[in-house]
Order: sequence, then structure tokens, then C-alpha cells
Amino acid sequence: MSTQSDNSFPVMRRSLLGALPSLAVLSACGPGTTTPAAPAPAPAPGSGPGPVPAAADPHRAAVPAAGPRQAGIDRPAQPQQHTVVSVFDIGPRVDVAELAAHLGEAVLGLCGKARAALGADAGDLTVTVGVGPGPSGTATARAVGGLELPAFAREERSAGSWGGDLLVQTCASDPVAAVLADTRLAADLAARGASRRWSQAGFRPPGGGAVRNLLGFPDGIENPRTDAELSREVWLPGPGPVAGATVAVVRRLRIDAPAFLAQSVARQEEAIGRRRTDGSPLSGGGPSDPLDLSAKSARGRYLVPAMAHARRANPNATGSAKMLRRGYSYRNGPEDQGLLFVSFQRRLRTFTATQRRLDDGDDLMRFVTATASAAFLVLPGFSAEVPLGGTLLGERS
Ligand code: HEM
Repeated sequence: MSTQSDNSFPVMRRSLLGALPSLAVLSACGPGTTTPAAPAPAPAPGSGPGPVPAAADPHRAAVPAAGPRQAGIDRPAQPQQHTVVSVFDIGPRVDVAELAAHLGEAVLGLCGKARAALGADAGDLTVTVGVGPGPSGTATARAVGGLELPAFAREERSAGSWGGDLLVQTCASDPVAAVLADTRLAADLAARGASRRWSQAGFRPPGGGAVRNLLGFPDGIENPRTDAELSREVWLPGPGPVAGATVAVVRRLRIDAPAFLAQSVARQEEAIGRRRTDGSPLSGGGPSDPLDLSAKSARGRYLVPAMAHARRANPNATGSAKMLRRGYSYRNGPEDQGLLFVSFQRRLRTFTATQRRLDDGDDLMRFVTATASAAFLVLPGFSAEVPLGGTLLGERS
């Protein structure tokens, strides 16, 4: 290894980690030279006892909260590793438009601000806000095909975790930032007449695209990703008050993972319709190849079995549009773990048609019970000039 590379590596490494102050000193010292008078280089971030600055990791760069659409849905493109989903009730005398506008200001104050409001770097913190069927107004709810979820199979309903008026989802690479932001916003909302109905923290492995769920299968393979797909499937079109809004469905789905995993791997793969190792379809090809729902074995059996989850949920089978699934795993203890299902779509029907089809028969759903559930209209984007909810909450009907 050359002297050049020996000396340039620490410079490059430190600059990548964001330790820029030491760069000038080090680069002034040519390879192999020493300058005893030069100050000792700063310790690399993470090597000392203090917290690592969020900016050190490019994946944790600040995500703008302001814009024509809210953050936490398609920005950042790679979902952060941690979330807290909280659902609130809004008291009858609360002015919802005022509450939302205030919430928007609070979100702008939290996101992207290093240490200012959280005592910790906000990093890539995002906050996504939606309103339930009540606060969104009847006309608005009707415009998106309603926001009331019907009853489905395998539900354990309780008043404390079903429905709700306001969704606040915080997501961040730093779990503490996600929880701190949730705590701050909940206190703020409580002071203005909103009380927490239910809340769930979630996590997902690092990495973009599909990541493994608690059954060990890559999840999130088939999802709208390009701008054209997201405009078609997720964002409500303009012009008009709902331009840039979307419908969110949030459900806590407990999975009987021990029972599912007690099956042979082949049986597990048949229940999903994809390989556990890399998510490749059972109809053949690699992980990014589409499912071939018509492919059959020599004996005439479907390669993606009739009750495989990926077949049952496929939009061609459900006759619905596509949804953007952006869920997280959760674990409240060995008896209560599963998927904090979060999907974004233009209309509620995309979710209900899919769920009905899963209820009619799905070899994965036999192991799944919903224990919390709600749907919301995620408000259009906002900024310092355009208040959150300003385009539609002011004109409720
Ligand atoms: C605990 C519950 C669930 C688990 C563990 C789960 C897991 C999976 C997995 C592993 C895949 C295949 C890989 C992929 O394309 O992402 C998949 C696909 C899919 N799931 Fe689920 N899922 C669950 C519940 C649901 C629910 C409740 C819905 C909607 C009502 C849903 C909708 C879909 C859709 C639309 C696809 C893609 C189908 C395709 O076009 O190939 N899933 N899910």
C-alpha cells in the first residue's frame, strides 16, 4: 500500500463522516510529512462519548417538511428505520382548521432543526398528518370514496384502538428523534383539546426497497415508485382543495409468527407466493421480475398458488388500483408482534377491495389479526406561508 493511500484514507474517511474542520490541516500536510505544531485532529465522530451528529450519515440528511405534499410518504424515498404512529381524538369544541395550522407550524419547527426543539439532532425526521372521517368534512370524505372502514374478518376491535380523528406519524433514522417528536406534538395537541387514542412504535431494517418483515420475507417489493406511478396511484390530483392529499390506512396486524414459522419453508413460500431468500416470484425469475399469475406446473397447478398472499393482493386479482405500502414491524412482547401496516392510496376502495379479497381466502391472513385500525385523509402539503389544512379544513361541510 502506498504512502499516498495511507495518508489520504483518513482524510477521505473523516470528510465523509462530516469532520470537515480537520481537512484543511491534514491536506496541508503532504504525504509522509509531519507538522508537530499542527493541532491534533479532531476525533472521528462516533469515537468519543458524545452522540454522532445526524449529518454524518447521508441517509439521515434533513428532509424538508414544507412542499406541495407532506413528507413521510415518498420523501425520503427510503423509509427511515423508526416510526411512531399516534391517533388522536379531537374535542367537539376544537377548531380543527386552527389546530391543523398550529400543528403545521410545530412540525416546521421540529424538522430539520439541529437540536433546536428536540435537544437532539432531528436528522431525517418527518411528520405526516392526516384527519379522520369527522374532521375531514363529509364532502371531502365523499370525494375520496369515504374514510369509514367497514368490518373485516379477524379483527379484535376495542374503542381505544379503532378509528380516530387525527393521525400524526413521526419517522426518523434515530428512534429517539421519532419518539421525542411524538411526545412534543402530543403535549402540544393535548393543550389544544386533542387526546391520544392509540399509539404504536415500529421499526424496519436498514436499506431501501423491500426489507425483511418478522416472518423473514422481503416485504414491499411490489410498490409504486416512479413519479408517474405515485401521481397515478397515491396523490390526489389538482386543481382543487385536495390536490396533493392522499388516503392513509393504518392497521396494527398481530401475526402468529411462531405458528407461521412452524411450517416448512416451502409451505411458507407457498403462503406468500415468493421465495424467502430474496423475494423472487414462485412463477420464476428474479426478485424484480413480475409475478406470472397464469404460470402453471406440468401438472397444471398454479406456480403462485391460488391462496398465496401475493396473488390474492395483486391489483389484477382485486380489480383495484395500487397502494403504496410503507409499513413497519412492531413488537410489544412475544405474544404481540407483527406488522404496523401503513398504506397510501388515492381512494379508500383500493384498500377495502384488497382486504375483502384477502378475507375471502389467503394463506397468510390465517395467521393475522387486526388489533388497531383507522383511515385518514393525509392533508396536502404546507409551508410557512400555506398553513397545514388551509386548502380544505377552512371550508368544511
Ligand atoms: C401481517 C400482514 C401482512 C404481511 C406479513 C404481508 C406481507 C407481504 C409480502 C411478504 C408480500 C410480497 C412481497 C411484496 O410484494 O411486498 C406482500 C405483498 C402485498 N401485500 Fe401484504 N402483507 C400483509 C398484509 C397485507 C394487507 C392487509 C394488505 C392490504 C389490504 C396487503 C397488500 C399487499 C399487496 C398489494 C402486495 C403486493 C401484491 C402484488 O401485486 O404482488 N398486505 N405482502
